Amino acid sequence: MTQKVHLVYFSPTNTTKKVLEEIAKGIGLEQISNIDLTKPLQLTEEISDRIVLFGVPVYRGRVPAEASEQLKKIKGRNSKAVLIAVYGNRDYDDALLELKDITEESGFKTIAAATFIGEHSFSTEQFPIAVNRPDVSDLTKAEQFGKKIKNLLEDPARLGKTFDVPGNRPYKELGVMPEVSPVTDNQKCDQCGVCIDVCPTNAILLDEAIKTNSALCILCCACVKYCPNEARYNDSDFVHTAATKLYTFCSKRKEPEFFM
Ligand SMILES: Cc1cc2nc3c(=O)[nH]c(=O)nc-3n(C[C@H](O)[C@H](O)[C@H](O)COP(=O)(O)O)c2cc1C
Ligand code: SF4
Ligand code: SF4
Repeated sequence: MTQKVHLVYFSPTNTTKKVLEEIAKGIGLEQISNIDLTKPLQLTEEISDRIVLFGVPVYRGRVPAEASEQLKKIKGRNSKAVLIAVYGNRDYDDALLELKDITEESGFKTIAAATFIGEHSFSTEQFPIAVNRPDVSDLTKAEQFGKKIKNLLEDPARLGKTFDVPGNRPYKELGVMPEVSPVTDNQKCDQCGVCIDVCPTNAILLDEAIKTNSALCILCCACVKYCPNEARYNDSDFVHTAATKLYTFCSKRKEPEFFM
């Protein structure tokens, strides 16, 4: 059996990373290493003879553009891929299929795939959407899925089989995103810099006060979720309307799905 597992993920608010770590625990291999694509990777990586767990959040039914660019820098040689799309309880649309296409194009062989639910980036106290997910039930399923992958790796006859995942080509069209970003309450901000560190696109800088370049912002909401002083928040109509709709129409709990 291949002895090493790589986790490769884009995960601004950590839900995708959490799911991958739990699956890796279930697979039970000792050597685990991480390639975090949330902050841009400079070099192209080649991964040989490994099992790679790829994880992305779903943005507008697709693989986030920033993640897709980064993923294309990871090339596989004789490596097997497990693909995970984590979505905020609306839908994953074409994201899992797109992830499969990207990684297979780079030389990986898909052996299993799954979708999980993570707290929605736009979730707030007023409009909670999939709050605290992945929860205990999700993480138990992730670990069990890892155990199934372990069994699969020990069964070469099953490993050779191909399978489809849901989704359509051409993928869902992406409309134009408005240039908006979270804002800062300067009364609460102590300029600790956490938001600057977690921002995947370097959209935030400290120039006497915290300033955000909305043109670079992908609305991942990492700055909002990680700010220790609750000084970052969304005040745009765009996020407010989206959160209201999600809360109204997508509150019914969805469950992880598995494909092998
Ligand atoms: C710009 C944007 C678009 C999103 N689009 C979707 C979507 O189409 N469907 C969905 O269910 N969740 C959507 N989400 C929610 C994320 O997929 C979800 O919060 C995920 O858990 C975030 O992953 P992370 O914690 O690894 O960053 C979107 C989030 C953002 C920021
Ligand atoms: S994380 Fe919050 S408190 Fe810290 S600098 Fe950013 S906005 Fe200010
Ligand atoms: S400024 Fe935008 S891109 Fe940067 S962390 Fe905040 S929401 Fe994400």
